[in-house]
Amino acid sequence: MTYENILAEEQDGILQITINRPTKLNALNKATINELHEAFSEAKENHDVKVVILTGSGGKAFVAGADISEFADFSPEEGRELAAEGQAALFDFVANFPKPVIAAINGFALGGGLELAMAAHFRIASDNAKMGLPEVSLGVIPGYGGTQRLPQLVGKGRAMEMIMSAGMIDANQALQYNLVNHVTSLEELPNLALELANKIMKNSLVAISGAIKAINANYEEGVNGFEIEISEFGHAFGTADFKEGTSAFLNKRKADFPGE
Ligand code: COA
Repeated sequence: MTYENILAEEQDGILQITINRPTKLNALNKATINELHEAFSEAKENHDVKVVILTGSGGKAFVAGADISEFADFSPEEGRELAAEGQAALFDFVANFPKPVIAAINGFALGGGLELAMAAHFRIASDNAKMGLPEVSLGVIPGYGGTQRLPQLVGKGRAMEMIMSAGMIDANQALQYNLVNHVTSLEELPNLALELANKIMKNSLVAISGAIKAINANYEEGVNGFEIEISEFGHAFGTADFKEGTSAFLNKRKADFPGE
């Protein structure tokens, strides 16, 4: 499948999705959000795809936010729809994606860009990266999950300060804040992402999918995460991956997971 605003390339089980509007610092317009939804939908069904790496093209930006030029004259109703549709089609879709999604933040991750990175299962960053939610400087608030996911990751006080000040933090501060897991040079970032993806892929992706559900349940209103964990734990015992993983261990050999 070919896209206009993103690149999607699968190799050895790793799908690399690159947001590709470098002249607009990869800002997320509606077309890009739709294409990302398409690419993730396709990846969900494609058995060849084991792990997804999400990054931005060029060395300057991951994503510099939602495309401000598209919503500058929206009404309150259109604003509400923009947030609701975007959250359903992309941000929640990525957060609940059954396969691991790693965001490789290669520069500015602002507004919707940081929200997209926060929807990914975890983040790594290059040392030139700058992150922030500057929406209040435009007279609006984060609308793609930022007010919820930033406090979950960095704590309420830091999230309040970042959102109220509309400021940016650099990669090292993001590391201190637990917003990203690793920082490396821009040149090394793709290798680090691949290294982490390859490490993850050695394990049972069926089990990983259950773990993603159980971890996410901790953040869902009215859902008992411990119960989801018990249910996913039990479910794992019926999978071929569990049979393979346990028998490989007991027979002192490397597991070769069938993925079912
Ligand atoms: N929406 C639409 N266009 C954007 C954009 C966004 N969020 N972020 C950057 N762009 C565009 C700029 O308008 C410019 O386009 P042009 O060349 O056609 O004028 C191009 O990308 C390059 O950006 P520019 O501002 O010239 O780069 P810079 O290096 O001077 O500044 C930033 C970089 C990230 C600090 C600056 O682009 C910025 O503040 N962007 C908006 C960030 C933001 O508020 N995001 C939250 C949106 S809710």
